[in-house]
Amino acid sequence: MPDTSFILAPSLLSADFAHLGDEVERVIASGADWLHFDVMDNHYVPNLTIGPLVCEAIRPCTQAPIDVHLMVEPVDALVPMFAKAGANIITFHPEASRHVDRTLQLIRDHGCQAGLVFNPATPLDWLEHVLDKLDIIMLMSVNPGFGGQSFIPSTLPKARTARARLDAYERESGRRIRLEIDGGVKPANIAEIAAAGVDTFVAGSAVFGAGKDSDPNRYDSVIAAMRAALTKVM
Ligand code: DX5
Ligand code: ZN
Repeated sequence: MPDTSFILAPSLLSADFAHLGDEVERVIASGADWLHFDVMDNHYVPNLTIGPLVCEAIRPCTQAPIDVHLMVEPVDALVPMFAKAGANIITFHPEASRHVDRTLQLIRDHGCQAGLVFNPATPLDWLEHVLDKLDIIMLMSVNPGFGGQSFIPSTLPKARTARARLDAYERESGRRIRLEIDGGVKPANIAEIAAAGVDTFVAGSAVFGAGKDSDPNRYDSVIAAMRAALTKVM
């Protein structure tokens, strides 16, 4: 049976970095499915964030899959390092790798699920010849580099196009590829995004900005609100 469930993947980019282990435990206890881990290199994107050492440090805090989003150029050298650090899913931007097919294979050879990430202006053509090596594709609904930006509406028709292509591939191959979205996802727009065919949702500021710091269960209500919105789409 293909896994058609919705996945919520809070982005640690907006978590409290001074208490990262606690944040990981809290957000998973609140019902999140995956942890989204944004890696920025101050080269492919202007920001600079976290690397394999931090992934390794949070790995013992949870059994939840760690979804590593590489915003780095070049890509390949970091793949074995993140696999060793406990990553489960590794995605990268095709423009940032000289040999996209090789990088996808490298990720799979290291025992991780592999995916491509499409910036708002990046055409979906990149996936055409590598569908058999993809476990997931991710559409950026903001330009990569920062949390807290607004959702770019043209991502919705792009998601519908991607969904149709992935559904056609599933009919041919029997293999389902997940469709993830990253940027500006909130309880107020998640249903509309799901209706466009997205099944996996990254949300940074909407999750980690919720509630009061003093409340250990502060992420419960935002995650419940997202799930409630999604049940209306199913
Ligand atoms: C942006 C990152 C996102 C970011 C999303 O480059 O890839 O994962 O954390 O943050 P929000 O949900 O605040 O837009
Ligand atoms: Zn991301």
